[in-house]
Amino acid sequence: MAANKKLLILPGDGIGPEVMREVRRVIDWMSRRRAISFDMEEGLVGGAAIEAEGSPCPDVTVEKAKAADAVLFGSVGGPRWDSLPFDQRPELGILRLRKDLGLFANLRPALVLDALVDASSLKADIVRGVDIMVVRESTGGVYFGEPRGVETLPDGKRRGFDTDVYHEDEIARVARVAFDLARKRRNKVTSVEKANVMQSGRLWRAVVGEIQKAEYPDVELENMYADNCAMQLCSRPKQFDVILGNNLFGDVLSDLAAALTGSLGMLPSATLGAVDPVTGKRHALYEPIHGSAPDIAGKGIANPLAQILSFAMLLRWSFALDEDATLLETAVAKVLSGGLRTADIMQPGMARVGTSVMGEAVVRELDKMAA
Ligand code: IPM
Ligand code: MG
Repeated sequence: MAANKKLLILPGDGIGPEVMREVRRVIDWMSRRRAISFDMEEGLVGGAAIEAEGSPCPDVTVEKAKAADAVLFGSVGGPRWDSLPFDQRPELGILRLRKDLGLFANLRPALVLDALVDASSLKADIVRGVDIMVVRESTGGVYFGEPRGVETLPDGKRRGFDTDVYHEDEIARVARVAFDLARKRRNKVTSVEKANVMQSGRLWRAVVGEIQKAEYPDVELENMYADNCAMQLCSRPKQFDVILGNNLFGDVLSDLAAALTGSLGMLPSATLGAVDPVTGKRHALYEPIHGSAPDIAGKGIANPLAQILSFAMLLRWSFALDEDATLLETAVAKVLSGGLRTADIMQPGMARVGTSVMGEAVVRELDKMAA
């Protein structure tokens, strides 16, 4: 039996807990059939943590996350907490984890599965075969820059402001993640910014270019304005391999890339820290990109596949269990080509199922494949 791996599970709010239950089935299967065992702990984050501990990200959650080899995160937020003051919102749960664990590289794959080509709102010919990896910087920029606030001016009018700021080292380290990834894919990075209007964007473009020239001359680099990238994603998405962007552009463009695939309910993500030169380990958090979907929470209809695929990313990135990750991804693809669909990806002629039937189907497929 392989050495135990420390996993922190943070289900959070909304559909988080229900989709996480389906991952538990997969984890059970992995330990039964593949002899991969995990030391699992649960923790509180988001609205759930506000209710229990009075904070969206209690210190004990951060400590547990730091002690874990990997964090599997559900989702946070919901209307119940919408009226809380800005600095107490559930969303701060994920933002604090990113910041305190130094999780600066957010990897968001947007892969169009053959079985779901018709679920996209774009024409099948445009999205068939799309395979994009968005690399989003996730501990800097306008999300954390100071000063920020809303002030009242002497005339009684209010003024809101944020700061988009990047140190060149922050740009360089996330650029390296993008270039390394490109080498394992189709060897192209499209770096997005607004170098035409933003000073931090000008620096972004310069630094990414320097890194490419000095360290990755074999990788193709294309610079693109973020607005143009949004347009190109909708018109010719197949031109993209790796898209590299700052925290804000990466946030927006990863939602857009995700929408191409037909369902936010399908997409996982990984957020990685730096590799510790001594232990060789890195902090890492895995989460679906769909969010807490409060409108369907508790109804048993949420799609668990993004959470399950986040676990596959965890196997691959935190534990180098590539074979098991691929097995799980293949099981998901097979369940879909077999015709099962949750409501979010429902298509004519397919069988509509709820959260737990979808989870069970993935485990059944794993059983078949491992038989
Ligand atoms: C995301 C989300 C978060 C973000 C929110 C929930 C703070 O939109 O992970 O993309 O903006 O980073
Ligand atoms: Mg977002």
